[in-house]
Amino acid sequence: MKQPVPLRKIPQTNIFRKGDVFVLFGELFGRGYANGLINEARKAGMTIIGITVGRRDENNALRPLTAEELAVAEANLGGHIINVPLMAGFDLDAPEGAATPTDMLADMTLKSWQDDKLDWTHVEKCREVGVKRFKDSLARVMAELDGMIPDGSNAFFAHTMAGGIPKVKVFLAIANRIYKGRGERFLSSRALLDSDLGKLILKNFDEVTANTFQYLIEGSAAIRARLEKSAGQVRYTAYGYHGTEILIGDQYLWQTYSNYTQGQAKMRLERVAESAWAQGIKATVYNCPEIRTNSSDIFVGVELSLFPLLKALKKEGGGAWAESQWRVCDELLQEGNTIAKLLQQIEDYNLSGVSKHYRDFAAWPMDNSLELADLMIGTSDEITQMHKDRKALVTDILSALVLEGTGPLMFHETSNPAAPVLWLNHDIIAKQLNAMHA
Ligand SMILES: NC(=O)c1ccc[n+]([C@@H]2O[C@H](COP(=O)([O-])OP(=O)(O)OC[C@H]3O[C@@H](n4cnc5c(N)ncnc54)[C@H](O)[C@@H]3O)[C@@H](O)[C@H]2O)c1
Repeated sequence: MKQPVPLRKIPQTNIFRKGDVFVLFGELFGRGYANGLINEARKAGMTIIGITVGRRDENNALRPLTAEELAVAEANLGGHIINVPLMAGFDLDAPEGAATPTDMLADMTLKSWQDDKLDWTHVEKCREVGVKRFKDSLARVMAELDGMIPDGSNAFFAHTMAGGIPKVKVFLAIANRIYKGRGERFLSSRALLDSDLGKLILKNFDEVTANTFQYLIEGSAAIRARLEKSAGQVRYTAYGYHGTEILIGDQYLWQTYSNYTQGQAKMRLERVAESAWAQGIKATVYNCPEIRTNSSDIFVGVELSLFPLLKALKKEGGGAWAESQWRVCDELLQEGNTIAKLLQQIEDYNLSGVSKHYRDFAAWPMDNSLELADLMIGTSDEITQMHKDRKALVTDILSALVLEGTGPLMFHETSNPAAPVLWLNHDIIAKQLNAMHA
C-alpha cells in the first residue's frame, strides 16, 4: 500500500437477507469490533454461526468448550457455535514430546532476553505442527458448516482474529515497559524486534493475525464454489489496522499509534486480501480506527486519536444528536474540565513535533521512542485524570460509537466492495453515525 484507500461515501447496497449465513471467524467479546457487524447481520435476519478458539486444560492441551461454556458463548453470539478449537498460532505446539516455543522462552529473564538465542530449526517444526493442527480443525469446521449453508444463499465470513503473544512471564514485564513505560522504565520496541524473542512473537502474529485469513479463504473454497454455482455469493472481511485519518485542525490527517508491533502482520493480512481479490474472490480488509477493546487496552495512548471524533461528528453535519454526545462526554469530566479543554490538549499533542514525526505513512510501523512515550503516555494519564471516574471514560463512549459506525459501513460495502483494502477514517464514521441518528 503506497497510499491509504479511504471509503468516502456511505455504501447503500445490501445483498444479505434472511436465510443467508453470517460466519464469525473469531470469538465475540463485549467491546469487540465484531459486534458492529453482528448487529447488522442480525438486523438483516441472517443465520449467525460462530467458532471457538477452544480452551487450554491444566496441561495446556487444547480442548473444545464444555456444554456450559458453549451455552454461554452461543447465548452471547445469538447463534450456533461449531465447537472445534480453532486457536491459531504455534506458541504451544511442538512435535510429540518436544519443547514448545513457550517452553523455549521459559528460562528467559529480564536480564538475559536480549541476548538469548532460539533454535530456529526447531521453531519452524513447531510452526508446522501448529499450522497443521489449525488447518485440520478448520477442515472439520468447514465440513460442519457446509451442511448449514443452503444452496443459493449468500455467505459472509467475518475474520476477527488477531493476537499471538506467548504467555511467558518475562514478556509481561517487557510489554509493560514498551507499551506503558516512561522515563527510566521506558523500553524501545526496536530492542524487542531485534531480539530472538521479538522475532518469534512476530512469526506468531503472522500466523494468528494474517495467515488465518488465508486459511479461511482456502478452507472455504468448496463451499464458495457450491454457492456460486447455485447463484449465491460469498464475501470475506477482516479487520485491519494501518493508522487512521482524524481531524487535526480542520483537516483529516493520517496518524497512527506507535509502535504498533503487529504492523507487519496487518500488512500481510492486506496482501492476503489483495491476492484473493486478484483471483476474483471478494475479500476486503477494513482498516479501522483505534478503539479501546480487550485487545487494545494494553497500548496506553492508543485512545488519544479517538477524541477528535467528537469534532468530526459536528463537521460532518451532526445536529442535535452530535451535540448530545458532547454533553454526555462533558458529564464524565470533573468540574472545571470540559470537552473543549480536553480537545485543545489533544490538538496541542497532535501539533507537537514528536507527533508530526510519527505521521509518516511510508515508514509505518515506526519504532517507539522515549520522547514519544513520555508525551503520549503522559498525555493519556493527564486526560484520564480529568475524568470523575477512571472506570467511566469518554473513550468508552467513543469506542462504542466507532464500533457502531463501522458495522453498517462494512456490512453494506461488502455487498459490493470497491477494493481489497479500505480505510474507515473518522470522516466516514461520523457521517454514518450522523445518518443513523438523524
Ligand atoms: N481495537 C482496535 O483499536 C483495533 C483497531 C483496528 C483493528 N482492530 C482489529 O479488530 C479485530 C478485533 O479486535 P478487537 O480490538 O475488537 O478485540 P477483541 O479482543 O474483541 O477481538 C480479538 C479477536 O481475536 C481472536 N483471537 C485472539 N487470539 C487468538 C488466537 N490465538 N487464535 C485465534 N483467534 C484469536 C479472538 O477470539 C477475538 O475474536 C482484530 O483483528 C484487531 O486487530 C482493532
